[in-house]
Amino acid sequence: MASNSRDFFNHKLHSLLGLFPVGVFLLFHLTANYQATKGPEAYNETVAFIENFPFVLVLEFVLIYIPILFHAIFGLYIAFQAKHNVGNFGYFRNHMFLWQRITGIITLIFIAWHVWETRIQKALGTAEVNYDMMANILSNPVMVAFYTIGILSAVFHLSNGIWSFLVHWGITVGPRSQRVATYFTMGVFVVVSFIGLRAMAAFIQ
Ligand code: HEM
Repeated sequence: MASNSRDFFNHKLHSLLGLFPVGVFLLFHLTANYQATKGPEAYNETVAFIENFPFVLVLEFVLIYIPILFHAIFGLYIAFQAKHNVGNFGYFRNHMFLWQRITGIITLIFIAWHVWETRIQKALGTAEVNYDMMANILSNPVMVAFYTIGILSAVFHLSNGIWSFLVHWGITVGPRSQRVATYFTMGVFVVVSFIGLRAMAAFIQ
């Protein structure tokens, strides 16, 4: 492949993976954690159901780790590229464009830490993933602040990412449809942030 068409292909793949499956996984993950609002048992049952799912490790690699790694590595490359394809979207959109990059980097740091202290500890056999694990992590106010920033950053990145996905795939072309998409994605941000933060609060005793 010539380098231009390879770049085009990588951008398209990066954009697609951000929504399917990474974005869909984020929605699934926060909704599953929301079960904690019904109490520790409901949460532990949800975790057990997911852990006992057939081929769960294969699904984790194919639907989560590989897509997120590609999106994150290519995302870093885009974020630090000097060339900014800002286009003619006005003041507000230029800010959103910058925040998409900033939240990508914050989200990467948060995910690395979060996966290290949960999924990797489980793989190493040093901890079990359950309600008590999260309650223990979130008994530290610094961690509550870190998780709050991490959740808001990931949800902003997904919501604003949906807006830019719709432009990149030619779904919202004119200014009117792009304005409607702005309101829609703001709504996504509010609703999904509530789900994520309310889920987190259920672990704080
Ligand atoms: C929870 C994890 C993540 C989700 C759900 C997610 C989702 C998305 C979505 C839906 C888009 C829009 C794609 C488009 O514009 O067509 C996007 C763009 C982007 N993402 Fe992520 N992403 C995540 C993590 C990351 C990470 C860890 C990085 C690393 C820095 C990153 C960097 C970027 C960048 C730079 C863009 C802008 C691409 C552009 O404007 O061309 N993302 N992301």
